[in-house]
Amino acid sequence: MTTTPLAHRATAVAARASGLSKVYGQGETQVVALDQVSVDFGQGEFTAIMGPSGSGKSTLMHCVAGLDSFSAGSVRIGDTELGSLKDKQLTQLRRDKIGFIFQAFNLLPTLSALENITLPMDIAGRKPDQAWLDQVITMIGLADRLGHRPTQLSGGQQQRVAVARALASQPEIIFGDEPTGNLDSRAGAEVLGFLRNSVRELGQTVVMVTHDPVAASYADRVIFLADGRIVDEMLHPTADGVLDRMKAFDAKGRTS
Ligand SMILES: Nc1ncnc2c1ncn2[C@@H]1O[C@H](COP(=O)(O)OP(=O)(O)O)[C@@H](O)[C@H]1O
Ligand SMILES: [Mg+2]
Repeated sequence: MTTTPLAHRATAVAARASGLSKVYGQGETQVVALDQVSVDFGQGEFTAIMGPSGSGKSTLMHCVAGLDSFSAGSVRIGDTELGSLKDKQLTQLRRDKIGFIFQAFNLLPTLSALENITLPMDIAGRKPDQAWLDQVITMIGLADRLGHRPTQLSGGQQQRVAVARALASQPEIIFGDEPTGNLDSRAGAEVLGFLRNSVRELGQTVVMVTHDPVAASYADRVIFLADGRIVDEMLHPTADGVLDRMKAFDAKGRTS
């Protein structure tokens, strides 16, 4: 099955991969991690990426986020073709236009929650937009914890700080590789609700890799990868719908 950008989604494109391929190694040890993937991530849209382990989810995200090189095809963030950039420009684009949420929070233990949130901008020598920062902090519901260190916060609170850090610089797009993978279901739901709010209320674009059908159901759409290709797409996903789709893939995998 081919997946083309959906015609009825008239929104501007925050990121686009076209014919994107990534090959690791050479000869007998060669692995095709991505095989001509074409996909659009529309502005203000929340996309979940799902698929079996090794299907290329992280590779897709890393290539689109400019963290990894690719073998063929092209990637664009906003109007900028990544392939046209020199290393320094790519670093700058990552800093200015892309936010990351890591599975393991990656907060600095010696800094307060607020200092962690503004750290990337402090490093870049940029002043945060105070009104925006206030809005983000209100939304994560940690206004009374801003002076706390990460160890004084629960896992869910730490991950909300990490989400706020990604949002603070108003990036074009935020990527998360299993951002709720280390959280219990309640803390995970908090973070997912917050991500969804950032899309609904602030117009943020979010792309998230997940294994969890419930997490995927917070997204506006799910794309399914298998063997480095997009094999299906689901709009307005429900947890049950995603689970059924995963079971169908599993059954197909066993019989072929
Ligand atoms: N640095 C690497 N060197 C060689 N092969 C890799 C490397 N990174 C990933 N791969 C391979 O590429 C494929 C896709 O990996 P990955 O994108 O991490 O999958 P996923 O995130 O869906 O589990 C897998 O077969 C994996 O073994
Ligand atoms: Mg992965």
